[in-house]
Amino acid sequence: MLKTHTCGELRAHHIGQEVTLAGWVHRRRDHGGLIFIDLRDRWGIVQVIADPAHSPAAHQIADRVRQEYVLQVRGKVRARPPGLVNPRMETGEIEVLADEVVILNPAKTPPFPIFEETPVDEALRLKYRYLDLRRQRMQRNLLLRHRVVKFIRDFLDARGFVEVETPILFKSTPEGARDYLVPSRLHPGKFYALPQSPQQLKQLLMVAGFERYFQIARCFRDEDLRGDRQPEFTQLDLEMSFVTREDVMGVIEDLMIGIVENCSDRRLLTKPFPRLSYAEAMARYGTDKPDLRFGMELVDLSDLVAESGYGIFAQAVAAGGQVKGIRAPGCATYSRRQIDELTALAQKEGAAGLSWLAVGADGEIRSSFARFLTEEQVRALLARMEAQPGDLVLVVADRQPSVVAAALSALRLEMGERLGLRDPRVMAFCWVIDFPLFEWNEDERRWDPSHHLFTAPMPEDLPLLDTDPGAARGQQYDLVCNGEEIGGGSIRIHRREVQEKVFGLIGLNVEQARERFGHMLEAFEYGTPPHGGLAVGIDRLVMLLAGEESIREVMAFPKTGQAVDLMANAPSPVDPEQLAELHIRVVEE
Ligand code: AMO
Repeated sequence: MLKTHTCGELRAHHIGQEVTLAGWVHRRRDHGGLIFIDLRDRWGIVQVIADPAHSPAAHQIADRVRQEYVLQVRGKVRARPPGLVNPRMETGEIEVLADEVVILNPAKTPPFPIFEETPVDEALRLKYRYLDLRRQRMQRNLLLRHRVVKFIRDFLDARGFVEVETPILFKSTPEGARDYLVPSRLHPGKFYALPQSPQQLKQLLMVAGFERYFQIARCFRDEDLRGDRQPEFTQLDLEMSFVTREDVMGVIEDLMIGIVENCSDRRLLTKPFPRLSYAEAMARYGTDKPDLRFGMELVDLSDLVAESGYGIFAQAVAAGGQVKGIRAPGCATYSRRQIDELTALAQKEGAAGLSWLAVGADGEIRSSFARFLTEEQVRALLARMEAQPGDLVLVVADRQPSVVAAALSALRLEMGERLGLRDPRVMAFCWVIDFPLFEWNEDERRWDPSHHLFTAPMPEDLPLLDTDPGAARGQQYDLVCNGEEIGGGSIRIHRREVQEKVFGLIGLNVEQARERFGHMLEAFEYGTPPHGGLAVGIDRLVMLLAGEESIREVMAFPKTGQAVDLMANAPSPVDPEQLAELHIRVVEE
């Protein structure tokens, strides 16, 4: 090794020792004669002193070094003079007096400072990702990610799970996104698809008798990107045989608790994790991924205002819709402009507008709609909302309950944010269960699976597949934390006739089903154990543990919102010869 110690490990008990260090110049200061270098490696930062009176040669070289030069330093650890001890630095009690400084490699001036946590344009960070990753925050995030993945492997290994790698070059494994395709050179006109998840392969591993499988698996999905979505991302993918959903949820819940308690400084809000049915989550929070760090639940007012003189309310209810509200404590003094901002937010979610009512400190009411209601109706509404002086009640009415839900969910999160109720140090997990098995696709006039097409119906809902598919619930479960969908899974269909029925409902005829999933149908005929599993989005989980707002902050080399790698400049054009070999011609738009 070119170093005897790491920069971060030196403490008072090393005083007097000869050490050799190697790392980067974090900062350099010239104090008329003495040169101070903060030398950084992965383990921390230590102060090196080049004193011309002690070693003129070391000082001469130290004089030439600049930010981010790579150095080797030989010297002796000594106590900092009293008064110069820096309690904010872990190595702040000591410094290293340099006998010798070697420049292992010079560095150009970096395009942004490494040593300050100053905001830097993200495009610049991604272009010079290797420099961005030198920064403390990114190092911290990737180390956290490493600890989480290691914990997962150890935890599952101890419980008899086997890690199996599955192919990246495979066939379409639909999870609701577009596939990334890879043209075959050997088979003109044919394509591999990159897996959207190892879903089919892990089920086949159950047919193969592994009983407990997991994989830290890379998944590929060509979909619209956001802060919590990347074209390639990592799942903890898991599958078990001879289980009910309780068994799968139990393993994952214990694992999540273990991760939070052992790998992070976050606090779990509740354990065991609360469970909500899909219907309950939608009714109380307007979303199937509720942020349970705060209350502010949606309250149904439909029955109270159905007969009111306020047309917007009365008409929504008459048309089979809903009127619901949330209560934001202490926001009664909101200005017109603030209400307008909230209205715009509701409109972005499809609502026609936002109705509101503020209860002043003295009990006096300001409202966009109260004058159209009877005193009795207003009183009933205030009681239902449990409104106190100082509260602001936000009300959305629409003929479509899904619009009311989306608008109030967005408003709830916004008010939670404004009121500081979304503490990033708290992890509020919950399970959402009893999802509908299908969603109606009006454009295609067919049912779409709400999870994926291998999800088993609830046993008691099996007959509904013939009579009322929309009412059938799936044996599906989502793991939600702080308003993010962290994971999802289900008990699978293991009987061929049920699988074929589901194919039929989602509009695949026998031919098409055989074409796409023949290998699955065939496998299911050779003794398939009942099985089920789940996948956890590792990027999203680590993002929450790190207190970050985007999964890009916990991935080493992420892509932009346009699915571009700015560092390597991918995707990029390729040679015509390469295309010819792949039997591909590019059509100019
Ligand atoms: P699902 O599609 O719900 O289930 O994915 C599981 C989890 O993966 C994460 N995730 C993503 N993370 C980052 N970028 C993306 N584009 C992205 N898409 C999904 C989410 C999500 O909850 N095969 C099933 C699992 C199963 O049934 O066992 C599956 O993939 O955190």
